Amino acid sequence: MTTPMPAFPRSRPRRLRQNAKIRGMVREHELGPSNLILPLFVIEGRGLTEEVRSMPGVLRHSIDGMVEQARQAHDLGIPAVALFPNTPPEKRDERGEEALNPDNLVCRATRAIKDAVPDLLVICDVALDPYTDHGHDGLIEDGVVVNDASIEMLVGQSLNQYRAGCDIIAPSDMMDGRVVAIRDALDAEGGQDCMIMSYAAKYASCFYGPFRDAVGASSQLKGDKKTYQMDPANSDEAMREIASDIAEGADMVMVKPGMPYLDIIARASSRFETPVFAYQVSGEYAMIEWAAASGALDRKKAHMEALLCFRRAGASGILTYFAKDAAQLLRA
Ligand code: PBG
Repeated sequence: MTTPMPAFPRSRPRRLRQNAKIRGMVREHELGPSNLILPLFVIEGRGLTEEVRSMPGVLRHSIDGMVEQARQAHDLGIPAVALFPNTPPEKRDERGEEALNPDNLVCRATRAIKDAVPDLLVICDVALDPYTDHGHDGLIEDGVVVNDASIEMLVGQSLNQYRAGCDIIAPSDMMDGRVVAIRDALDAEGGQDCMIMSYAAKYASCFYGPFRDAVGASSQLKGDKKTYQMDPANSDEAMREIASDIAEGADMVMVKPGMPYLDIIARASSRFETPVFAYQVSGEYAMIEWAAASGALDRKKAHMEALLCFRRAGASGILTYFAKDAAQLLRA
């Protein structure tokens, strides 16, 4: 920073903090409902909800209740929801074939939202873990998660979700080269307007623990995801991952998890002109909730501060389980 500054006592930074009006005038970053994306967990059935034990306040909904959640999000000014199916164990297999079923849970959920709330953007995750009996995001051959064969399945999954009406395809699988394969397949089918938000820098993180509980994958997962998700020690590698996803045709990129990786978000947003999103993941949400439940933190203030900090780091938007509450607080 090269701005010339007089020294104290002529310079008194507190002058610009003395009341709410001046603080508002000089505030550098803002959080609004349009910066929020609500993830939703979907289950089979009608009129059903289930609590996610490790995520206080988060429910899995059958499609009818999920549509109601989507409608509420829309009414609060939230532009998009991200859908995650909890596939019954009997529909999971070694190859995750259920991902290609046009009537699978996430496709039915997508159609139901697009019927009821057509303006709301629907984001569908692309990865095989909701559908494989081993809980990995790709196909396994001889004990290894294989890249190129997985991409064929992921392309099929993407087209299946696009045909169901999904607006934004979000590959979260971290296979190499999947973005260009998905882009080409969408374009070949007239899906030029279908957007891609790639989980470009997705780390092998323990902060996904509660999510795996929510989608029923924690008991399924054999081993870890370190051969495809990134090493938490790396930052340059994240820049390479993001650059290659952009070159392959990603319209937006994501960094995940969020708060422990704010440096990656800041670095990516200053380096690339492509919108960068952050996923405040299940473990981050759970940390705030459990700390608040124990009386250590003010729940609302902690959530709102964390979300604002993502904006300061340079995120265009944040996927957060607190999205509806945040939009309500912003409105009040
Ligand atoms: C699936 C996927 C995961 C998350 C989003 N998509 C879990 C994982 O990679 O194991 C995590 C989201 C969260 O923790 O909130 N590939």
